[in-house]
Amino acid sequence: MMLPAENLSIENIEDALRLEFRTQVVEPGIKSPAKFLQRWSYLSSQVPRLHGAALARIKIPDIQLLLAEIAYGECGSGNRDKIHSKLLNELIRQSPQADVMGGSVDPELARLFEEAVTALCQMNQDEAIGFIVGLEAPAYDILGLLKRSLIGVDIPADTVLRSEYIVIHEEVEKMHQESGHAAMGIILDAGCDLRKIYEGGDYAIQFLIDMVGERRFLGAA
Ligand SMILES: [Fe+2]
Repeated sequence: MMLPAENLSIENIEDALRLEFRTQVVEPGIKSPAKFLQRWSYLSSQVPRLHGAALARIKIPDIQLLLAEIAYGECGSGNRDKIHSKLLNELIRQSPQADVMGGSVDPELARLFEEAVTALCQMNQDEAIGFIVGLEAPAYDILGLLKRSLIGVDIPADTVLRSEYIVIHEEVEKMHQESGHAAMGIILDAGCDLRKIYEGGDYAIQFLIDMVGERRFLGAA
């Protein structure tokens, strides 16, 4: 997917990235909610490493702050009981199918994740910023997929919608998108290369599609 140069604005970049995720993951749908949750639970437990790897590339203090805030939130904002991946796992454990979703992580999934961390460490600043923009762009779509999947593994809808994990994320995603927009202003002022931001964003979207979509795992039970 390539955006023509004249269409390169931050809003267009975010929209294009979101659209790509919708086309590849949301529209085909999630065939196995249990698998999706297992993969997302793994990704969720490891995602602060992506923020850290991106942070290592970023020289602009204002953007370092935004990224540190996102990572801090993921890590429970100083409260070990509120670490996002822990909240998600607590919710998943309420499913009668919880046993199926436990167990060890698919080695292919772990390999893909390590590959992304390594790639991110070698990106330049603008690509690394783009990667985080790409990671955040489909946040609401992902929240929707998570809700449907949690209900799909027979957790009562009410329990899902009122859960701390979902309530926090409705709030947090709004904040992340706002910090995303704040970042945009800083990015433009700093004269970042939008093409590089787009490339980093596209890398993140392809990574997400590989991690949770059916593309790479077709046929996987
Ligand atoms: Fe989170």
